[in-house]
Amino acid sequence: MIIVAISGASGPIMGIRLIEELLNLEEEVAAIVSKTGRKIIEHEVLNNSAYTSLKDLLEKRGVTRKIGLLKEYENSDFFSPSASGSSEFEAVVVVPCSMKTLSAIASGYADNLIVRTCDVAFKEKRRCIIVPRETPLNLIHVENMRKAMVAGAEMVPPVPGFYTHPETIDDVVDFIVGKLLNLLGRKQSLLNSWGSSE
Ligand SMILES: Cc1cc2nc3c(=O)[nH]c(=O)nc-3n(C[C@H](O)[C@H](O)[C@H](O)COP(=O)(O)O)c2cc1C
Repeated sequence: MIIVAISGASGPIMGIRLIEELLNLEEEVAAIVSKTGRKIIEHEVLNNSAYTSLKDLLEKRGVTRKIGLLKEYENSDFFSPSASGSSEFEAVVVVPCSMKTLSAIASGYADNLIVRTCDVAFKEKRRCIIVPRETPLNLIHVENMRKAMVAGAEMVPPVPGFYTHPETIDDVVDFIVGKLLNLLGRKQSLLNSWGSSE
């Protein structure tokens, strides 16, 4: 089980694409979308129409395969499985991660399910992968990244490579999603390894 958390930063499409790829791989996914994350999905992905649920959104995007493997939890719901160390998730990926959520993760201020899940990941020695989205960075952001990494987080800034000659925004998004799948040790065909001919 992988937890995919979408917080209120630009680029929720990265989290959505990660969920789609994990479902393609027949993985169980638990998703959490913050309140502002939902607003930004409406603005950036849904052309200003209302967010109802991730399942609904994926269906609108034409994804139907293995959609039953996706569960969505409210960010305010501490009765959800990942709020407890007894739940058996393998990794939490916060993608995109706002600087506010990063700061809460770095300081253990677990007042929502996304931050609590990262807190649980640290204490139970599970993986916590963070995709911090802000630019330029101030020193508080950098210090919070350092603090989270000391606690065990892996930091994957959404910085594309250009050696793959991306032609569309989808190509850029898939580069980041490919990197995340590589880190998670999953098979992916979004990003070829350097030197391969495919
Ligand atoms: C359209 C929009 C885009 C935003 N983009 C970012 C961003 O890229 N990075 C960031 O740190 N905050 C961004 N913010 C501000 C955060 O949403 C705000 O700090 C919020 O409190 C984050 O809460 P959350 O992490 O619990 O979702 C954005 C806000 C809006 C409305």
